[in-house]
Amino acid sequence: MSKDYVHGYDPKENIRLQDQASTLVELLHSDTSYPAGSKVLEAGCGVGAQTITLAQNSPEALITSVDISKDSIAEAKKKVGAAGITNVKFEQGDIFNLSFEPHSFDHIFVCFILEHLARPIEALRALKKLLKVDGTITVIEGDHGSAYFYPDSKEAHKAIQCQVELQKRAGGNAMIGRELYPLLRAAEYKSIQVSPRMVYVDFTKPELVKGFTKKTFTAMIEGVRESALDAKIIDQATFDKGIRDLYRTTELDGVFCYTFFKAVARNS
Ligand SMILES: C[S@@+](CC[C@H](N)C(=O)[O-])C[C@H]1O[C@@H](n2cnc3c(N)ncnc32)[C@H](O)[C@@H]1O
Repeated sequence: MSKDYVHGYDPKENIRLQDQASTLVELLHSDTSYPAGSKVLEAGCGVGAQTITLAQNSPEALITSVDISKDSIAEAKKKVGAAGITNVKFEQGDIFNLSFEPHSFDHIFVCFILEHLARPIEALRALKKLLKVDGTITVIEGDHGSAYFYPDSKEAHKAIQCQVELQKRAGGNAMIGRELYPLLRAAEYKSIQVSPRMVYVDFTKPELVKGFTKKTFTAMIEGVRESALDAKIIDQATFDKGIRDLYRTTELDGVFCYTFFKAVARNS
């Protein structure tokens, strides 16, 4: 396991990633579909939470999904097999050191990976070498600075800040969404287009109340409780009130907003 990476391996986190993926399918995937015969690399597929949608939206593309974690690959394989998908093959590998020939992919898809890496520009450069000359890369990331809600709560913001701080200490960046443009630029991609994808949740959208505010975002913040308390970056009462206040936004008059960023860029 790379020391650059903080979470994504325990069963609870895998369920959260799956809930996140199912809730966000339309928002994040609706405009991604690759032509028949094109070679696509999914870099950092994890337990396959995005792989199924990727494959279903591009049924005739040839998808290679890689991840550094052997266990995650095994899980992803099972899931993709159970869904009857046949256009995906899996390989274990490190994004910084993949063994594919240069220029061997028409398209690359990267979702929720850069936020965990200490050297995201280097990762983008390494992937660029694998892209064909006119090939595209699609990168999706969140940005925890984009979370705002009603009723507002300073304790909720402090609890969110714990996740940001812990990810930073592990070498990552939970506010990387806003940096996709400068990162891709620094890695010398061309024709970079970034589109913000906002999730807006109120009580009239029960599937988002459950699938996003509760099971994706608040579950993720709740998941750092022990680490945040151990690291003494917050006291227990403040953290627990912050979590209660995040759940409070899911009540009748509550509102929760969060923005993901999706970038598409070319190799030339
Ligand atoms: C948060 S998960 C996201 C997985 C998937 N893309 C999704 O959206 O559900 C991050 C994944 O990146 C993988 N990862 C981290 N560093 C990596 C590296 N250097 N090379 C390949 N995969 C890596 C982890 O093993 C983990 O599965």
